[in-house]
Amino acid sequence: MSKVYDKIENCLAAVRRKTDFVPEVALTLGSGLGNYAENIKVECEIAYSEIDGFPVSTVPGHDGRFIFGYVGETKVVCMKGRVHYYEGYDISDVVLPARLMAAMGAKVLFLTNASGGINYNFRAGDLMLITDHISCFAPNPLIGPNDDRLGTRFPDMSSVYDAELSSILRETALENSISMKEGIYCQLTGPSFESPAEIRMLRTLGADAVGMSTVVEAIAGRHVGMRIVGVSCVSNQAAGMTNNPLTHEEVQMAADMTAPKFSLLVTESIKKFHDYL
Ligand code: HPA
Repeated sequence: MSKVYDKIENCLAAVRRKTDFVPEVALTLGSGLGNYAENIKVECEIAYSEIDGFPVSTVPGHDGRFIFGYVGETKVVCMKGRVHYYEGYDISDVVLPARLMAAMGAKVLFLTNASGGINYNFRAGDLMLITDHISCFAPNPLIGPNDDRLGTRFPDMSSVYDAELSSILRETALENSISMKEGIYCQLTGPSFESPAEIRMLRTLGADAVGMSTVVEAIAGRHVGMRIVGVSCVSNQAAGMTNNPLTHEEVQMAADMTAPKFSLLVTESIKKFHDYL
């Protein structure tokens, strides 16, 4: 058995000692978006610290627990808080939660995050449907021996973000008069925010928004065959685009402001996913 596979199995056993809930959708909440969990009809909660070997976040606003329950009729496992590569974890631990949720039974990985807007048309408080991604300096989470029980050695990444589920998000946004941008999300390692020169570089590369998560999870999720969908909450214009210095508090405040439309979009979309799984 590979170390990675072993760890997933051990974590799964710990989860199964507490609940036999089999989720259809795995939802990962980004910075400041943790309150979304209030929209779930909760069946069970498990703190990450109760799962031996599970990486526990150190970032304020990333309260760490799995919440199992229903959004409409859809069975969901929600990650309230995630770990980031910049906290010092091995990259395989950063993606362990995504793999674990797949092992629990989730077929869809719904990734959310807070980001800096690079696209000149984006403002703080905008929502962006992630249509593709760029990984920049974050190590590939699949580096190391490949375990074929998880997925293939060289997984295809030509359509990471599921076309059908993304269309459901577009339709839901329209029906609820939520304006939603679309674009390419780039993950850097953080934890420092970018320099203005780096933001110009990322814009040249084709990125619309930048953050410190999501891409590695999307790669690991595709590797295990999950359908991925992603929404970014643009919490600020990226470095150098305004005169304001960037702070984590600003990111959290913007996420709070966006919470009502974010919650509506996520809830109504997940309800609809039920018919497509
Ligand atoms: N850069 C990187 N990550 C972020 C930002 C940003 O400007 N805003 C929120 N997360």
